[in-house]
Amino acid sequence: MLLARHMFASFHNVSYLMQSGRNFPVIYTMYNLYWKEDFMPTGHIMMAMSLDGFVARRDHTLDWLNKQPSANEDHGFSEFMDSMDAIVMGSGSLRTVLGFGEWPYVKPVIVLSRSMTKQDLPEHLQDKVKFSKASPQETWEKLDKSGYHRVYIDGGAIIWSFLKAGFIRDMKITMVPILLGDGIRIFGETDDDVDLELVSAASFPSGMVDLVYTVKGA
Ligand SMILES: NC(=O)c1ccc[n+]([C@@H]2O[C@H](COP(=O)([O-])OP(=O)(O)OC[C@H]3O[C@@H](n4cnc5c(N)ncnc54)[C@H](OP(=O)(O)O)[C@@H]3O)[C@@H](O)[C@H]2O)c1
Repeated sequence: MLLARHMFASFHNVSYLMQSGRNFPVIYTMYNLYWKEDFMPTGHIMMAMSLDGFVARRDHTLDWLNKQPSANEDHGFSEFMDSMDAIVMGSGSLRTVLGFGEWPYVKPVIVLSRSMTKQDLPEHLQDKVKFSKASPQETWEKLDKSGYHRVYIDGGAIIWSFLKAGFIRDMKITMVPILLGDGIRIFGETDDDVDLELVSAASFPSGMVDLVYTVKGA
């Protein structure tokens, strides 16, 4: 299907160019419709969230996740990770991961931070993480140039920045049956609505519910 679309687009472009040498706006529109849409990186989220909308306690702890009886459940994280080319996270999440002791990623990791540098990493992780002070827009251009197509956007504030910038294509949110009362959110204030389309919903014996949404227009 994708190949057919590209063949159609190429044929259409060439025949159009042959007939008319003056319609660059049309050609630019076709580039946006057929090429840019398919080859620019797309952002993807997979998060666990308390029923009242928190992804971590205020002190960044995740003990509330560990106490869920979900050890025998497959929420698809391995499959999700396998389908990603790179991971972009914020310094808040990196600090949490550093506390795990073990580095859990095999994919390239880019950490957005104005406060952390390589010096904050232990020696054995120095070549596993790239730090960047870039905006979401600049980050997307760099990811595109590096040939990364599917990007896992991880964190809290970072997710919201990339959602607002229009770079998140879909998200899998695991609703956890708990009310934390306070903590860190991924969704914040926005001037414009972010319209979502439900793709699937699946409940598990632990009481967790996996909700998959696509972001309309992304
Ligand atoms: N429940 C789950 O499934 C799940 C999954 C992953 C993570 N978490 C946890 O959720 C919590 C999220 O906390 P968080 O919001 O602090 O994490 P974060 O999004 O990973 O990091 C936010 C930090 O990134 C830096 N940053 C750089 N550029 C930014 C930009 N454009 N937009 C936003 N931030 C930017 C800022 O710090 P600087 O001062 O360094 O610039 C900012 O404070 C963490 O504790 C994490 O471990 C939960």
